[in-house]
Amino acid sequence: MLDSYSINLPRKFIGRNCTLMALAIDNISSVAEELKEKTPKEILRYALTEFPDLYISFSGAEDVVLIDLATKVNKGPVNVFTLDTGRLHPETYQFIDQVRKHYGLQLKIMTPESDELQSFVAEKGLFSFYEDGHKECCTVRKTNPLRKALNGLDCWVTGQRRDQSPSTRSEVAVVEQDKVFGTDAQPLVKFNPLANWSSQQVWEYIRMFDVPFNKLHEKGFISIGCEPCTKAVLPGQHEREGRWWWEEATIKECGLHAGNIK
Ligand code: ADX
Ligand code: SF4
Repeated sequence: MLDSYSINLPRKFIGRNCTLMALAIDNISSVAEELKEKTPKEILRYALTEFPDLYISFSGAEDVVLIDLATKVNKGPVNVFTLDTGRLHPETYQFIDQVRKHYGLQLKIMTPESDELQSFVAEKGLFSFYEDGHKECCTVRKTNPLRKALNGLDCWVTGQRRDQSPSTRSEVAVVEQDKVFGTDAQPLVKFNPLANWSSQQVWEYIRMFDVPFNKLHEKGFISIGCEPCTKAVLPGQHEREGRWWWEEATIKECGLHAGNIK
């Protein structure tokens, strides 16, 4: 009975608890409501129970907390991918590898498609983002590799927090349907377990549990992205001011979280 029913379901439902899965997808806003006061660990426990094959999207910054929490919930390694844009700081590359070893991860490192990257830099050079904005470069180096990483997945987890950007992230839900990278035929769920945590709570966790962190944080960096597009901030400056500082605040999303821009 279940098999004949499964034939019409998206691939991700086959062989799984269909009622539970369908509920999670269809009633995503009520699940978000149910989880909104829960701790990041409880949210990750829910996510890993419903979607055991989920992937954590790790940027090489303080979102390492997600890996630490998920490893504890799972009592073992979790699936993690990172988007290597080719333009990260040396400290970030070192940190990514440190995290891979520390947590025993089979880390999936996504790189830009070589032909696409080659024609882009041949046409526009290596620093076009300072002249005509970051969108094109981010599409080649981040968004398209992300689309590839998400292909065939039913769930991903990000380290987005509401306090990261008053202009674009103040309404980030702890779980949402990802309509940017998912489709009706292949729905995609996006968990943001740290949505309600402040930067201070993240750092209290890092210190309390001796979690490894990116050395750039010791040099005044708060939010960390690519080297040419990230700078340290001064005391009192908002962390987002160190990202794409030559652009207007409302367009400071690179396409990974384009759904935040209404
Ligand atoms: S960004 O869109 O502006 O670059 P930000 O640096 O705030 O995002 O990070 C928010 C979350 O997006 C991270 O916690 C992570 O889940 C995901 N993310 C951002 N950059 C990367 C990356 N290079 N690789 C993998 N995930 C990333
Ligand atoms: Fe390119 Fe900067 Fe975007 Fe990195 S953050 S992909 S260097 S525009």
